[in-house]
Amino acid sequence: MSDRIQSIRGMHDVLPPSSRMLRDLEHSLQDVLRQYGYLEVRLPILEQTELFRRSLGEVTDVVEKEMYTFEDRNGDSLTLRPEGTAGCVRAGLQQGILHGQPVRLWYGGPFFRHERPQKGRYRQFHQIGAETFGLAGPDIDAELMVMCQQMWQRIGLPTGPVLEINSLGTLQARQSYRATLTEYLKQHESRLGTQEQQRLHTNPMRILDSKNPDIQDVIRNAPSLSEHLDPESSEHFEGLKALLHTAGIQYHVNPQLVRGLDYYSKTVFEWVVPELGAQATICAGGRYDGLVDQLGGKPYPAAGFAIGLERLMSLLEASWADDTGIDAYMVLAGDQASHEGMRIAGRLRKQLPSLSLIVNCGGGSMKAQMKRADRSMAKLALILAEEELNCGTISVKFLREQRDQETVSQENLVSYLDKQLCTEGPKS
Ligand code: HAM
Repeated sequence: MSDRIQSIRGMHDVLPPSSRMLRDLEHSLQDVLRQYGYLEVRLPILEQTELFRRSLGEVTDVVEKEMYTFEDRNGDSLTLRPEGTAGCVRAGLQQGILHGQPVRLWYGGPFFRHERPQKGRYRQFHQIGAETFGLAGPDIDAELMVMCQQMWQRIGLPTGPVLEINSLGTLQARQSYRATLTEYLKQHESRLGTQEQQRLHTNPMRILDSKNPDIQDVIRNAPSLSEHLDPESSEHFEGLKALLHTAGIQYHVNPQLVRGLDYYSKTVFEWVVPELGAQATICAGGRYDGLVDQLGGKPYPAAGFAIGLERLMSLLEASWADDTGIDAYMVLAGDQASHEGMRIAGRLRKQLPSLSLIVNCGGGSMKAQMKRADRSMAKLALILAEEELNCGTISVKFLREQRDQETVSQENLVSYLDKQLCTEGPKS
């Protein structure tokens, strides 16, 4: 027999019950987005490579070493999207939906980065992101963070994540800071490693991210970005802090927070769950006022964030174990029961739209069917055998509770199940 083909390293099949958890998580987050008036955009998974080079920055980990880039049959260089902001701006410009009313958009789906896989870091992962355009003040930055907080509450995260914020200043202020920083780092050039020496000429701010133990004191004593903030950015940052205070959102100002993508300006933020260890950031974002201009539009303020769903799922795993979401399994003894069962099940599904009901297919003894019912993780077995057919009833066995079996008339079955399963209520 030939070898079986395996999935690509770092790209995982999502099986039940995790698939259900992912779907429910997406629905909950999407519902909060709806509450705030964000509208969905569905964007292509493939974009021109140039889009990411221009927006994320040539000298970023993502562009330098993590993109899945290939030539298509026409010889065009295409890239599997490593993130959603660039595509969202590209779509906004191409479709002409920027530069009018302020816009609030959201997107979700798979993203791809050729990183070294480990817990919480995958080569295909899922994000839900929100992007806003046309709003320059700190009120929208605060709204994004308040909305995140509401999302954590909605999905019942066991530990509240910590909000870290920082300001990177305007692009102009950053350029002048960059010059000051480069001058300082040049004085210590001989102590820098090969990669840092290269970055000194291409992207010196990334040196501040370096984990190289030999240069930690060089980094510690470097001129700080916060001391070089322009007045406009300082005022914006103070405004944001005041709004967060009013909203009752706790935050921690982290001057080291620079983010790994080049498009940010002014506010940046991350929600961190320290228990997750090395991959602790569950959500990250910030303001990117220069990106629309950089991608060929008129200057336009913008801000947003993206949530890593696998990291959220790992925090919720314990509360979801083994829940397939199946409510009931119908066990049918004999031919007549099969016909009647199909009819009853049709009525139940119509009148209780949120009910998840499996009807036994493929026959089998009562014992075999009860085993299947149990394996399906259904809460109830609905049994239809000769006696039930004769009396117009159905027997209900509780598969996950120590409770006596009950007999219910078929007429009352809808309201009975509605009560047992707390579904959304019968439809007439
Ligand atoms: P990012 O920090 O690159 O930002 O990614 C956002 C989140 O996606 C991370 O905090 C993490 O939870 C998750 N994530 C990233 N890479 C991986 C991976 N390899 N495996 C699992 N999860 C991962 C962005 O993508 C920006 N587009 C966010 C943004 C939107 N900024 C403004 N608007």
